[in-house]
Order: sequence, then structure tokens, then C-alpha cells
Amino acid sequence: MTANKKLLDKESNALAKTSRINYFDVVIESGKGAVVRDVEGHQYIDLLSSASATNTGHAHPHVVKAIQEQAAKLIQYTPAYFANAPAAKLAERLCALAPISGAKKLAWGNSGSDANDGIIKFARAYTHRPYLVSFMGAYHGSTYGSMTLSAVSLNMARNMGPLLPDVVKVPYPDPWNRLAGETEDAFVDRMFAEFKRPFETFLPAEETALIIIEPIQGDGGIVKAPVAFVRKVAEFAHAHGILFAIDEVNQGLGRTGKWWSIQHFGIEPDLMSVGKSLASGLPLSAVVGRAEIMDSLDAPAHLFTTSGNPVTTAAAMATLDVIENEHLVERSARLGEEAKEFFEREKTKHAFIGQYRMYGLDGGIDIVDPTTEKPDADATTKLIYRIFELGAIMISLKTNVLRFQPPLVITDEQLHKAFNIMAQAFSELEEGKLSLPDNADNIGW
Ligand SMILES: Cc1ncc(COP(=O)(O)O)c(C=O)c1O
Repeated sequence: MTANKKLLDKESNALAKTSRINYFDVVIESGKGAVVRDVEGHQYIDLLSSASATNTGHAHPHVVKAIQEQAAKLIQYTPAYFANAPAAKLAERLCALAPISGAKKLAWGNSGSDANDGIIKFARAYTHRPYLVSFMGAYHGSTYGSMTLSAVSLNMARNMGPLLPDVVKVPYPDPWNRLAGETEDAFVDRMFAEFKRPFETFLPAEETALIIIEPIQGDGGIVKAPVAFVRKVAEFAHAHGILFAIDEVNQGLGRTGKWWSIQHFGIEPDLMSVGKSLASGLPLSAVVGRAEIMDSLDAPAHLFTTSGNPVTTAAAMATLDVIENEHLVERSARLGEEAKEFFEREKTKHAFIGQYRMYGLDGGIDIVDPTTEKPDADATTKLIYRIFELGAIMISLKTNVLRFQPPLVITDEQLHKAFNIMAQAFSELEEGKLSLPDNADNIGW
């Protein structure tokens, strides 16, 4: 039995099955930049970045040094009672970076999920209103509040109800659902009418606290809502005293070729959640918002023993240094253009490549049945398995979307190697050379 398999078998006796979405039988041992190694020494180009949680790559020396130095000084003293220097500095720096004008404050957390729960708490406390609105296809996390806001997998609701009360889901304007011949303006008008329908029939706007959106949905397939739609939603929110919040957990920190995905839309949120890559993958998140909203709760309404932990906040300070000093936001935008050209080229060769979306190093590529143009889950699974065999880690979303999110530090050479791997897998699929793995029924979302 291989070393990977041995460890996985051992683990499977103890790990609850909800803890992993299965893809490949691999145990990651180490990583450097955009490359990871498994316990058998196989190397893979990472096209997933630990689910967009390592934008600065694996084991970046500046981040490693910050973690090591801080760990040697103080691993933890709970910020719930006493301040620590890295967290104090980071609070100011992250507030300054947030795309919100005027006075801002933040509250720490340990995960994107708890940050989104925080958004719910602050919105309800500030507005004194109960109702919350989120979008279908959203993934906001797996704590009770954030999973109630989510709508991407039945497994996040099944057997766990009742979920949080007073949450209403509205359709996300996924361009996949654009009707034949429908213009973008007509699509936006139709989707905005759908968005307003609850407010006209059963949801009093004056009792609604929050509208939360991923301006670019991550797990929903890397899908960007039309700019005009998001603007209309934000205007509607403000016209009715509803807070407009964004989830930047997946799409923030340079992923989309801008610091924050909302900067593609030219508007500002009242509240936002940040996590994942903030501390290069150490558990740190934050709710950032307008100061008056953030001051609407008193301790201990939203604090955790380890949130704002000195090691994680030192890692985050170093992460922000790397993003700034290595110009990773610009790099993401530039390499994203190259990736766009690559997928465009491949699309002309292969009819099974449907729509694709690319915003910086952030892509979703639809794999479809060329005759029906419907999602082709089997072809997608064949592709990701072949890509894995050839030495790159790429997973699927929504059964038929290739998720392309490499670390922003990926070198040009590594990126081109990844393109070659994907191109080979695409050609082999075209030639009918790929087959489904034995465990195909048990993989993916
Ligand atoms: C957009 C978004 N929000 C929130 C979360 C939840 O973050 P975490 O898994 O750190 O709780 C995720 C995780 O994938 C996410 O993609």
C-alpha cells in the first residue's frame, strides 16, 4: 500500500466524513510557493491555493519568519482580555485597506464562517431589524448563521434544522441563466425584478437588517454578478436603511486582480468579511465595517479566545507586506490576462469548454456536453483526475466547473507548465482517452 493510502486509511477510522470533500487520495506534506509535495514525494503545481487561502504561496519566507519569531515570543494571550502588538498594528492596517470610506473598525474571528456570523450580529444590532437576505449559490461558511445564509449544497442544511430564522434567499444573477438573445441590461432588469419580488410580497424592507452578497461567487462557480445589478441592490439597500455587506473571504486580498472583489463594481459596502488568505492560511478572520455599525455590540458579543491571536496577526502583517512588496495584486491581474488567453485558445479547440470566467488569477471554466451544452460532470471529473496525474492540483465546483485559483506568487514558468498540463488533459479528453476513476461517485461537491 502506498504511503498516501496508508495514512488516509488510518485517518478514515477517526475522521468524520463531513470533514472532507473528496477529490484525490493524497496527503500533503510540504509546500513552497505554488508547488506542494505529498508524503511520497510527488510534486504538484497548486491551482487551488488551499481554497484561496494561500495567495502568497506556501511557506513564503517572510511569512514563515514572522510566524517563527512571534511564536518564540508569545504564541497566545487571549485578545479577549489583553491586547497584543501584532493585532493592534494589524487592526489599523486592515481598516485602512478596507474599501469603505470614513471611520472603520473591525472585530477578529478564526474563520470566514464566524466572520459572516459576526456580520449578522452587527447588522441586527445596528438596525434593530430581524430579516437577512442572501443569494442562491452562496457559500458563506458552516457555522449556523453562515450556513443559513449559504445555498450551495443540500448537505449544509440536511438534518440540522431548524436553521437561523428570518433568512430569505434570492436568485444570484448567474449569466449562465441569461436567456437566449437577452441583453445584459434586460438580464439585469429581470434579475433585479426577481430580487425585489420578496420585498413586494412577504418581506418588509423596513424590517430587513442585511443584504449580503459575494460580488463574485466562489464556490458557486467563480461567477461575477453584473455590475449594474450589484449597484442596484446596494442602492435598494441604502434606500431602505438595510445594510449592504460583502463576503471577501474567498475573493479578497488580490485574488481577482484587485485588492477586493467589490472594487470591480465601484461601490462600497457597509460591512465586509475577510479570512482565508489574510494570514496566509493561519486561522484569522475579520469583520470590517463602518465604525458606528461596529460599535453597536458590546463585549463579549463577538469575540473568541484565539481570535486576533499574536501568531496569526503577525502572519497577517507579513502577508500584507508580501502582497504589497511583491505587487501581487498587479501580478494577479496580469497573469489572469494570460490565463484568459490560454482558456480562450483551448475553447476554440474543444467544444466541451463552455463559458469561462477569469478575474485576475481567479477562474471558473464550464465543462459541457458539446451536443446539449449542458453541464458534463463526468468529463469534468475525468479532466481533474488526469490533471492531477500529470502533476497539478485542480478541483471542480458545481460538478462541472474547473476551479482555477493558483497562488498569486506562481512563477511564469510554473503557470506555463500548468497550461501545458491542462492542454494535454483537454486533448486527451477530446480523443476519448480519459476514463472515470473508480471512486468517481464519491468525489466533489
Ligand atoms: C466566500 C466564502 N465565505 C466564507 C467561507 C467560510 O470560510 P471558512 O471555511 O474559513 O469558515 C468560505 C469558505 O470557503 C468562502 O468561500
